[in-house]
Amino acid sequence: MSGAETTQEPKLYHPSEATVAAAHVSGMEAYQKLCAEAEADYEGYWARLARDLISWKTPFTKVLNQDNAPFFKWFEDGTLNASYNCLDRNVERGLGDKTAIIFEADGGEVTKVTYSELLARTCRLANALKAQGVKKGDRVVIYISMSIDGVAAMQACARIGATHSVVFGGFSAQSLRDRIEDTQAKVIITADQQVRGGKSLPLKAIVDEALTLGGCDSAQKVLIVKRTGAEVGFNPERDVWMDDALAGQSDSCEPEWVEAEHPLFLLYTSGSTGKPKGVQHSTGGYLLHAALTTKWTFDLKADDVFWCTADIGWVTGHTYITYGPLALGGTEIVFEGVPTYPDAGRFWKMIQDHKVSIFYTAPTAIRSLIKAAEGNEAVHPKQYDLSSLRLLGSVGEPINPAAWEWYHQHVGGGRCPIVDTFWQTETGGHMITPLPGVTPMVPGSCTLPFPGIQAAVVDETGKEVPWGQGGILVVKKPWPSMIRTIWGDPERFKKSYYPEDFKGQLYLAGDGAIRDAKTGYFTITGRIDDVLNVSGHRMGTMEIESALVSCTELVAEAAVVGRPDDTTGEAICAFVVLKRPRPSGDEAKAIAKQLRDHISKEIGPIAKPKDIRFGDNLPKTRSGKIMRRLLRSVAKGEAVTQDTSTLENPAILEQLGQAY
Ligand code: WT7
Repeated sequence: MSGAETTQEPKLYHPSEATVAAAHVSGMEAYQKLCAEAEADYEGYWARLARDLISWKTPFTKVLNQDNAPFFKWFEDGTLNASYNCLDRNVERGLGDKTAIIFEADGGEVTKVTYSELLARTCRLANALKAQGVKKGDRVVIYISMSIDGVAAMQACARIGATHSVVFGGFSAQSLRDRIEDTQAKVIITADQQVRGGKSLPLKAIVDEALTLGGCDSAQKVLIVKRTGAEVGFNPERDVWMDDALAGQSDSCEPEWVEAEHPLFLLYTSGSTGKPKGVQHSTGGYLLHAALTTKWTFDLKADDVFWCTADIGWVTGHTYITYGPLALGGTEIVFEGVPTYPDAGRFWKMIQDHKVSIFYTAPTAIRSLIKAAEGNEAVHPKQYDLSSLRLLGSVGEPINPAAWEWYHQHVGGGRCPIVDTFWQTETGGHMITPLPGVTPMVPGSCTLPFPGIQAAVVDETGKEVPWGQGGILVVKKPWPSMIRTIWGDPERFKKSYYPEDFKGQLYLAGDGAIRDAKTGYFTITGRIDDVLNVSGHRMGTMEIESALVSCTELVAEAAVVGRPDDTTGEAICAFVVLKRPRPSGDEAKAIAKQLRDHISKEIGPIAKPKDIRFGDNLPKTRSGKIMRRLLRSVAKGEAVTQDTSTLENPAILEQLGQAY
């Protein structure tokens, strides 16, 4: 960026008058009024919304309980059921015949289900789970691709008070095993196969493999949805075809009314150290924020067609596919496939075909579709009728201004606001985001906190820094949809999110941020820990390092860092010291492939490094600490300008800088 550009006023994109007038939160004054309400009576504000948006079986009388901080409780004496709120309630309101889900399969076949049908399907599944012995409080692991069955399986768990833990279909048998063991899941729901980009890929076979890796004795039953009809291994003592499990089950099932704090789901995400952590979410507070953010950030209305392209294996798919839009009685798309199959016009064609009005995707997808459109006119969005769109969203990583502008102009026709939503698996829903009828947008900024969310930028001591100065992103007050604990590891929860440095008073997001000196808008500057964001997928560098060194016959030592990547945001770069002399040429290539395959087996293909460099050693301080900041420069291909005086072996940098 040139000096002239940095001092230039950022261009503001104002929402149109029509958008403002029609929006649920209409205009900056309305936004400020909500913020002021929360400021004046924090608990009263959330209680009002919780009564407004959620149907309670037993109304709550207590709002926030901070007695055992940071293990906060919200609405603790209220009882409810998430699936009742998402399904029955809509049928009771007369939406039984309204389309809940428009499912489009990888190959293009479309299946629609109404709210009544989805309710019946969920109830039968819930009854089937009960018949397999699943009770309130049990965990169910769901390892399935995007499907109506996937959503119904989550809803069915919620219906009977079982806690679901969805594992993304791109994770390996080893990762799946870890999650089954950690959750002690009683039942696993999967499919014979998954279909992506015209290819059939295994699911059940990976479950079988995971269960042979040990530690999975809790898993008594495996329910298998027939997706492709492929031949799969079948253990009659343990495996049950979903069709058989459903046969004869009633399509009504009384919801299990659970306490607001009852764990609705566990979802594993990477941290800076150790194994992925099982983020535990509540039922009441979580569902409130799922519904509220869907209403205010996406401005969801009765006739909208909402499409969130995330997978149900990630939190975005939980909040903005399974729970938020359904809680509001919306119509949504569930898509099985990938954006580039049969060609990179798939998203645009689907928006056209289904008259999608609200579209929510990740910057990585946008960037790869820009590339594709630039190389091939035929898949450029201008070839499609995208006039149904009225609102766009972005999530998962910072969106670079160039991608923002393209998205705005070529997808949104210059008329659709873009909500750049900052949040995390741990936050349950949006934390900092424009509201479409409120916020003048600046490309690359997630703008202002969602009403009621007390976000701030602080220094290492927890003191707020002036606007215009970068720092650490924190949240000052507990909010309803926040993580409740790390499953089985409350100490790690405290340490990770309410560190002593901030006297246990501030929620640490793990990101850096800066507020604009004039507008106070937030821009996220990236993770401050050893967590990478590759194509919007969160990966711990330590996890990848552990996977590498677990290849004991080859690897002596490994260090993993991220480097900026035009398409995927960040790319994984691994520095490896082998137990044998440093290889070069074809031999190095072959070993690199072997290591990638190994990581793929240990974690999943999403964790494969883009770059692997071999060295005789790693850059270390005299006390033996790996100097990662130097490796980051080397990974970028930069000349190392940092101070290397504490470095034991400076010559190693040059060696690691060389690609084989
Ligand atoms: C991390 C959370 C939130 C659902 C998907 C990812 C990064 C997320 C943005 C954004 C800049 C963002 C942060 C955050 N992130 N949204 N709009 N702008 N960065 O959930 O896997 O828990 O990852 O994603 O670094 O901490 P996640």
